[in-house]
Amino acid sequence: MNVLIVGSGGREHALAWKISQSDKVDKIYCAPGNAGMAQIAQCVDIKANNVAALADFAQTNNIDLTVVGPEESLVCGIADEFAQRGLRVFGPNKECAEFENSKAFTKKFLEKYDIPTAKYVEYISAEEAMENIGIFGYPAVIKADGLAAGKGVIIAENEQQAKDAIKQIMIDKRFGASGNKVVFEEFLTGTEASMLCFVDGNVIVPMESARDYKNIFDGGKGPNTGGMGSYSPNELFDDDLVRLVDIQILRPIIDGMKKESLDYKGVLFIGLMVKDGMPKVLEFNVRFGDPETQSVLMRLKTDITDIMNACIDGKLDQTEIIWDDKEAVCVVIASGGYPAEYEKGKVIYGLDKTDSAIVFHAGTKFDGDKVVTNGGRVLGVCALAYNVAEAREIAYKNAEKISFDDAYYRKDIAKK
Ligand code: AMP
Ligand code: GLY
Repeated sequence: MNVLIVGSGGREHALAWKISQSDKVDKIYCAPGNAGMAQIAQCVDIKANNVAALADFAQTNNIDLTVVGPEESLVCGIADEFAQRGLRVFGPNKECAEFENSKAFTKKFLEKYDIPTAKYVEYISAEEAMENIGIFGYPAVIKADGLAAGKGVIIAENEQQAKDAIKQIMIDKRFGASGNKVVFEEFLTGTEASMLCFVDGNVIVPMESARDYKNIFDGGKGPNTGGMGSYSPNELFDDDLVRLVDIQILRPIIDGMKKESLDYKGVLFIGLMVKDGMPKVLEFNVRFGDPETQSVLMRLKTDITDIMNACIDGKLDQTEIIWDDKEAVCVVIASGGYPAEYEKGKVIYGLDKTDSAIVFHAGTKFDGDKVVTNGGRVLGVCALAYNVAEAREIAYKNAEKISFDDAYYRKDIAKK
């Protein structure tokens, strides 16, 4: 089987690594990929949102399975284009990708199917939004409806900040057309957890649980990032929570999808807020999480291509998914300055010195025979061990061996 992986981050490197372990796979291509992926796959210079060129490539190169990483590609309708050409693709169609492309779409769905979530209102007029500012009190949660590279959620502490947020989103159009609509939500407190699920249109099957670290600095301080580290399993998920999530969230989601005739195939990422053991949905993403995927896939024993093919064929209920009891940690090494401005092109040293860890590349590329930085999140140093504490120690010991100018990582990932 020939596989094409669309994307170029740590998540996609982890996917390529897992897929390369399948004895059914002959050749892996990545578009556009990164320096780490280039070591196990052939990188092709096509951008992740160039749907037509990707489909042409898949046809010409006899690709049997295409796995889509980034939400932009899914929102652009990559799955629809591939399906139309008779190509097998793992990832939801454009209609289903609305769950990530529109926060209002997801909130409406959650409300309709009685799935626990924060109360919300939506506005398409900035004037009306301004008039109703603070409707749920403060802190006020203000969200651009559409995609905003993880930056479209503003938590305003007071009226002035809320007004600024609406101005930025709806008037200044900081996130472009994503700010044509705004969503206000009730502010939820508690502990966040990420839940990645396989979905085949008929059943939804959660993967092992994970925790992500969103802020740039230790102790949850500083601005939000794409994610600075992760571990799996997340101890928050005890038997009671797993049962509640199943009854109150997973079953209504799949029933709701069927009632809405949404033929969802791929991964659904559910962001949860848990308080006093009660889960509420914060958001849906229509793809694997990054860096949750790195930790979670280290624990997957089943051939992932079997699971992906089962999702495409609606046969997930016939597929046994086996997880390693061992536990995983991923520490992200970022470029100094990220998530704001940072420099690229710094030579990375020490990649050949790591031991007992797997280093997934995110923002890297080759410059001649040197690997250099090429993004904000550069590498994810991951380890699998008998428990999170041990995995943490191995991951950090290896992170210390890697260096580049102005490298930065949090020191408290998976610290108990
Ligand atoms: P989202 O992209 O919708 O998950 O929002 C990004 C982050 O904003 C979440 O991970 C939370 O930390 C925070 N957030 C979003 N919605 C809420 C809410 N209703 N209450 C509190 N925090 C929220
Ligand atoms: N780590 C959060 C995300 O992938 O959206």
